[in-house]
Amino acid sequence: MTSLAFTVFPKFSDMCGIAGYIGPHHAEDVLLVALERLKYRGYDSAGMAILHTGAIELRRAAGTLDHLASRLVAEPTAGNVGIAHTRWATHGAPTELNSHPHLSSDLRIAVVHNGIIENHDALRKELQATGVVFRSQTDTEVIPHLIAQAYQGDPVAAVRAVLPRLTGSFAFAVVFADFPQRILAVRQGSPLLVGRGPDAVMLASDIPALLPHANQVLHLDDGQLVDLTPGSVVITTFAGAAVATTFAAIEISAEAVTKGTFDSFMAKEIAEQPAVLERLLESRINTFAGHDHLVMPDLGIDLAAVRHVSFIACGTSWHAALLAKRFIEHLAGIPVEVEVASEYRYRKPVAITGGLAVAISQSGETADTLASLRLAKQLGLPAIALVNVVTSTIARESNGVMPLFAGPEIGVASTKAYTAQVLALYLFALQLAKAKGLLPPAIEAATLASLRLLPDQVRATLAGCETAVAEAAELFAPAEASVFLGRLGEHPTALEGALKLKEIAYIHANGYPAGEFKHGPIALVTATLPVVCLCPQDEAYEKMLSNLQEVRARHGRLIGVGHADDHHLRDLCDHVFPVERAHALALQPVLCILPLQRYAYHVAKRRGCNVDQPRNLAKSVTVE
Ligand code: M6R
Repeated sequence: MTSLAFTVFPKFSDMCGIAGYIGPHHAEDVLLVALERLKYRGYDSAGMAILHTGAIELRRAAGTLDHLASRLVAEPTAGNVGIAHTRWATHGAPTELNSHPHLSSDLRIAVVHNGIIENHDALRKELQATGVVFRSQTDTEVIPHLIAQAYQGDPVAAVRAVLPRLTGSFAFAVVFADFPQRILAVRQGSPLLVGRGPDAVMLASDIPALLPHANQVLHLDDGQLVDLTPGSVVITTFAGAAVATTFAAIEISAEAVTKGTFDSFMAKEIAEQPAVLERLLESRINTFAGHDHLVMPDLGIDLAAVRHVSFIACGTSWHAALLAKRFIEHLAGIPVEVEVASEYRYRKPVAITGGLAVAISQSGETADTLASLRLAKQLGLPAIALVNVVTSTIARESNGVMPLFAGPEIGVASTKAYTAQVLALYLFALQLAKAKGLLPPAIEAATLASLRLLPDQVRATLAGCETAVAEAAELFAPAEASVFLGRLGEHPTALEGALKLKEIAYIHANGYPAGEFKHGPIALVTATLPVVCLCPQDEAYEKMLSNLQEVRARHGRLIGVGHADDHHLRDLCDHVFPVERAHALALQPVLCILPLQRYAYHVAKRRGCNVDQPRNLAKSVTVE
């Protein structure tokens, strides 16, 4: 394998989804729904293996899940135990033969796999030398063949014997025709969950796929093997030591993971933002003696002693961290650095006495963020996490957790998690200020009172900007490039608006701090280039107007994001996306990103793109 393969393949192969079921229902029905819920991870073929009458019934199909469903209608299965998989092609084209499950030569062992077996080439040659004939081009197929060679009647022993032979990052599930009521699975680097319900035990790559049959979940740790039989879950380490099984209640409903009346999860999640912010505020504000007071989860650290904060995050979460730097520096006077996690983990950072590391991650599974968190801890920094998935690896490995309460975010493009992160980070900054004695009670109460108005302002902004956004999207959907400009608090908004357009509409879009524009990028401006300017009446407003003039003088197509009654802005711009004036001024970026989320959505729809599952992207990037 070339070095290019090492850097590219793991990312995509981790987009696969695994599901498994033992229970009273037809396994194929349960597993099809589970695969439907894992589709968001990206896939181009799917399959399942059902145990029935001492044999393995294999059904696979290239293309969408509809193809697999049709196959099952034509050739139904009858068992109530099975494993299933959505595959995103990496090693080998998205054909039926390359889709999972993969079988041993005698068709008695089936495996589904997520991640990558890095030494698959050497293992394949070794197996071929012993006479094994491979049916696929996948790295996965070595696993059932190796297990078959190690199998002498004890399935757990066979799997355990193979594990030391595999290098890479993986999770896989395996069934044996000899054991029609049993599924084994392992985790080493790729997430895998065990679900338990009143009459079922399950496996899945993500919680939504466990619903509605499981009401409890357990996240396997790296180096663990699970042995599922009806009503029983036994976990051991790869070496065979017993591991306690501690399940947590699944707090999301089956409705929360469906689109409801919306055409996409992205549209639903954008619309959910007022309720998400309300829920977050509810969890962090207490009212007694007639005043609002900030309450924070116990983070297990002395906030008054914090002298430096390092944020580590990727993508949209990194944009939220850029805003957090402003909040904390302004409110608590503590210096902050913001690190892209994939850089932090390799750049040999220096730990500062009194330093605190904060990992921000919607999924809580992002590999670079997790590696950076581990590094920060090794450096002796206390490490806390802001996550949406509170049972995630990042949450479990942190000293303290700030939950987002945003509910499942299924669209690959992060929307509601972003605005919730920004609000949660503002609350965290207030908490730091309070711990440092910099937040007098009257200011605290007034600030929290103004925050309570934010959800309604989000509601009003979403409603108020829609017509202008849809019109502009209609006009600019064919443009192949776009620029986003903002200053200070709106610079992260510009980056985030550009990211949304890139990832779901496949338009080359860049965000810049507006003052930098004339240092090079302004050369891009033509009469066809849409330039989106974040221009609310904040402390950068006058400067932004000058930057707008510079673009206008070069005939760029200006879209302004600002206040409806701002006539200067209306005079300067071809289009204005109106946003409310935030009562809590620092949170204007929460309002300004809303029309840009909707703009990306409309543009993507007009370009015929799948807004929930953009090409090449995974919702959780769980390998490097
Ligand atoms: O789950 P995380 O917040 O750690 O994910 C980080 C990024 O992968 C994520 O924000 C990504 O950039 C999104 N697709 C953005 O919409």
